[in-house]
Formats: sequence, structure tokens, C-alpha cells
Amino acid sequence: MRMYDLIMKKRNGQSLSEEEIRFMITHYTKGEIPDYQMSAMMMAIYFQGMNEEETLALTMAMAHSGDMLDLSEIHGIKVDKHSTGGVGDKTSLALTPMVAALGVPVAKMSGRGLGHTGGTIDKLESFTGFSTEISEETFKRNVNEIGIAIMGQTADLAPADKKLYALRDVTATVDNMSLIASSIMSKKLAAGADAIVLDVKTGSGAFMKKEEDSFGLAKEMVKIGNGAGRKTTAVISDMDQPLGFAVGNALEVKEAIDTLNGNGPEDFVELCLTLGSQMVYLAGKASSPEEAREKLQEVIDNKSALHKLADFIEAQGGDKELVFHPEHLPKASIVEEIEAPQNGYVSHIACDEIGICSLILGGGRETKESEIDLSVGLVLHKKVGDQVRQGESLATIHANDKEKLQTAKERFLMAYQFSDVPVTKEKLIKGIVTN
Ligand code: URA
Repeated sequence: MRMYDLIMKKRNGQSLSEEEIRFMITHYTKGEIPDYQMSAMMMAIYFQGMNEEETLALTMAMAHSGDMLDLSEIHGIKVDKHSTGGVGDKTSLALTPMVAALGVPVAKMSGRGLGHTGGTIDKLESFTGFSTEISEETFKRNVNEIGIAIMGQTADLAPADKKLYALRDVTATVDNMSLIASSIMSKKLAAGADAIVLDVKTGSGAFMKKEEDSFGLAKEMVKIGNGAGRKTTAVISDMDQPLGFAVGNALEVKEAIDTLNGNGPEDFVELCLTLGSQMVYLAGKASSPEEAREKLQEVIDNKSALHKLADFIEAQGGDKELVFHPEHLPKASIVEEIEAPQNGYVSHIACDEIGICSLILGGGRETKESEIDLSVGLVLHKKVGDQVRQGESLATIHANDKEKLQTAKERFLMAYQFSDVPVTKEKLIKGIVTN
């Protein structure tokens, strides 16, 4: 087999066989196919597309290009959750203890964030002493004993995707639906869960800006997951404005704790209940998503999810008292209000700009090496559809540097738009794709 022939075949609009795709991925991972040939192949795929079989074959080849985690020592049906990413997305922090409180084993490998705010691991480090550097043995034991463990990515998961994603990034071939779907799903399949719930975001703060594209991506990923023998469901949710009110690491942790105390923002609670009911249902802990939703509400009301979070934090070396006293989480030295410049109704929030404000304050990473300031960020008080009066607070800004505060404040005000007439609020959940 020669890569040249495969490129020509795809360029001419023919489909590639499973064997051909496996050949290409195996040899590319080993460095035996040069980047220039793979670039040409990616561009050919970009223009000619891939059918369902080819997309599944590409996903499987990339998933098997490195370690495939074996979670069989963990009892029960392991359900993983993945979000395509957004601003203020602290879902894992509240959702994982909620489902774990209902007996769904949570065995998660997470990464650190790049951009906007930190990733789940960065946020969890707001708990003094907390560490994700635990051995695989401790990881599995904690899931069996406490029901939840989160580990930093140590295994060599889907190295083919890592290499290919970097190549796509510089050859203008990222935004092809089959390539995105196979990239995300290869990592999920390698991470070893029995079932997968995907949160596909849509809107100005999401990777996919248009709703139809988000549904298209969701359908592709669900087809791949089910095709690979893992029950997969996707929820399409709004990311046209930040999720909840808090954007910034410790601020988001506090909001997740408030949520487990029954005082969460309406949209965030709704997302946790929707994703959670799919997870609990797929794990066989409820006979329908509706029943699962009721059970999830119960573990918030009776505080068992809050206690599950505390147990998990303690098991990984963190100070569990912070779960009960979030006022002691890292705090910024300057706290100021951002006042509304006019009367009206909030008609639009440039969501990614709010993420950039948090980044400017120091809450995110510009490069992989950057240090994160856990204490900074923003807490919004007004979201799309809300009425505001001039001078009323739109948000509270938490900063440690006056200059950064000023830059972020100016940028924040540019991100808000107002209307003189009432504005209808967007629906948070756009749909659920199960097959
Ligand atoms: N995220 C991924 O992991 N892969 C893509 O191709 C796009 C987004």
C-alpha cells in the first residue's frame, strides 16, 4: 500500500477501506508517513468528505494508536461526560458528585485548560492540597470506594489524534465534521468508559456557532460511539452567553458548591439535570431519564451530592472544609462592580469576549506554560433578556492587578448590547440526539 495512491483515491472522491485508513494512521503515528502527504490527505478529506464507515474506521484507528484504558476493575457501568467547551462551563464540578451520589461510577481523566478559564483540574486545585497526580491503583480504588476519582492525563491516549490535530490546525483543515467527530471520539473511546454523554455547545462562545452544525456534529459523534459499542447520547446546549453567572476558576467552584446546596443559577442547574439524567439512565440507575432527573434533584435537596464532593476532595488530598465554607476559597484583592451604561434590556452578550476578559485578568492560560490565577474572574448579574437600569451592576469583577482590571472592564462593556424593547430568552437545551 502507498500513501500516494490513498491520497489520489480520496482526491477523486472514492471512499477508503478500513484497512487503508488503519495503514495510514499506523504509519503516520510512527513517523513513516510525512506531514506533507498527510496534509494533502486532510485537504482531500476536507473537500470530498468521509462516509459513516470511513469516519468510524478513522476514529477506531486513532483510538487504538496508543493506550486503551482498561477500567474493568471498576464495578458498574462507567459513563463519561464530555463538553465541546464553553465560557463558565463548570458542569463537571457539580455533575460528577451528583451522579456519583446515585451510584454511577465516575472515573475521569481530565486535562488542564488552554484559553478562557482553566480546565476541570485547574478549577479543582482551588481546594488547597488537592492533587490529580494519583497512581492508577489509587484512582481505581477511590472510584470503587468513594464513587469518584479524577486523574491528570498520564496514559498515552490517542497519540495519532494529537499529531493530526496539530497538523490540521496549521493546514486549515480543522472544521470538517467527520474530522472533528473522529478526533473527539477517539480520545473518549481510548479513555475506557462504557457509555458516553456529550454536551455539544452551540452559539457565539462555542466551537460550532450555528445550531445546525452542532446538531450535525452531535449526530456524527453519537453514530461513532454507538458504532463502537458504547452507548452514546448528545445534548445540544446554548453557549450564546456564559453558562451560569461565574467565569473564573475559584468563582466557578463556588458556583458549583452553591448549586449542590440548592442555590444554583437556573440555566446551570437545568444543564446538570439534563446531562445527569442521561448519565444516570445510561448507567442503569433509573428506568427513564425522567426518573433519573427526580433522583438527581433528591441528591441536591438532601445534600448527599455535596457530601460526595467533600469525600472526593478529601480522598485526593484537598481541604474538604472548603466545600462547606467556600468563602475561604482563593480570593482576589480588588473587587469592583461594572455598571450598566444605559437603561434597557440585555439583547446580546459576546460570549467568547467574556472568556477573554477572564483570560486578561489571569484566569486562563495564553500558553501551555502560563500560571493560572485561581482567584480572578467575573460574576455576571445580568444575562440576555434581563432588564437593567443605568448605573446598576452588570457584573462584579475580581482582579489582582489594576491595569488588567481596567482592560478587562473596557472589553466587558463592549461585549454587552442593549435594546429598548423586551428581549426573549434563548432556550438552553436545543435538543437531545440518541441515535
Ligand atoms: N476538539 C478536538 O478534540 N478535536 C477537534 O478536531 C476539534 C475540537
